[in-house]
Amino acid sequence: MDTTRNRLIRILQDHKTSYISGQNLSEQLGISRAAVWKHMKALEADGYEIDAVPRKGYQVRRSPDKLSKNTLNWKLDTEWIGRKIIFEEELDSTQLLAKALADQGAVHGTVVIADQQTSGKGTKGRSWYSPAGTGIWMSLIIRPEFGPREAAQLTLAAAVALTRVFRQNDIEAHIKWPNDIYLGGKKLAGILTEMQAEQDYIQHIVLGIGININQTVSEINPDIRNKATSLRIETNKEWKRQELIHLIWKEFENVYSLYIEKGFQEIRDEWMQYALRLGHRVKAATPSTVFEAVFRGIGEDGELILENDDGSTQRLYSAELEW
Ligand code: BTN
Repeated sequence: MDTTRNRLIRILQDHKTSYISGQNLSEQLGISRAAVWKHMKALEADGYEIDAVPRKGYQVRRSPDKLSKNTLNWKLDTEWIGRKIIFEEELDSTQLLAKALADQGAVHGTVVIADQQTSGKGTKGRSWYSPAGTGIWMSLIIRPEFGPREAAQLTLAAAVALTRVFRQNDIEAHIKWPNDIYLGGKKLAGILTEMQAEQDYIQHIVLGIGININQTVSEINPDIRNKATSLRIETNKEWKRQELIHLIWKEFENVYSLYIEKGFQEIRDEWMQYALRLGHRVKAATPSTVFEAVFRGIGEDGELILENDDGSTQRLYSAELEW
């Protein structure tokens, strides 16, 4: 329906980089200036940030990127991811709720997503800063048809899916082993994989994905400002989280099918195309030691392959890389 409100939004969108006067708006819309002002207040209540400057007029600084069960379901065309969505404005951690739901039998592909996490979890017991309105904080429940040994490969596959989505959007993201997504030399996204398994059977995997999307520099946690970034900081524009979320779900389905049909080989090759520091010297830190070696890639299980100075090769399943 072409309401005054929709027409107003369209005009404001056409004036993203300049101010438009109240007079001009009132003429274009055929309403009084007081009515224009009322519409502006209503837009603000809906999450638009509007600059109103005397003698210049109005300009939209930020349009809402509100997540809700409705917006997340809107135009969703996945086969199995997100067919069941649990959305909350605020959670301690999507990971905790997803694990609890998985224990209670939540179906393959269920997604738990929050606008804000008050106790977001990172890898290695670290916390994950997850402020409201600016990031993607979600956990996917996967009930795989493969065994626990392959779980690490699935995490690498998830990193490939995320990188594909960024690159489809002209964002030159890279992967830092094993599954951190980097942009402009800083961390943009992280993946936390948690598994409930018996010896040769996975009950479920909860794949937690955290992506910094629309934070400005001052909205990045000061403790990590020198090493973390957001899509907005790197691209100078705001992104619609809901669109990216759908792209990620779709791409994860593609990568998952590829993995089930053809195994890890192609995903591994693609992972290496995106890898940071491949063929370069890195510092590897394990719980017992820190040493330097050349990063040669990942093996068949997704393990890290390093070449020592004496030419020997070593394979590590857990380490932190720095350079
Ligand atoms: C990392 O440390 O790199 C992994 C970060 C994973 C963060 C995500 S945000 C959604 C999900 N819920 C959590 O509490 N953590 C993961």
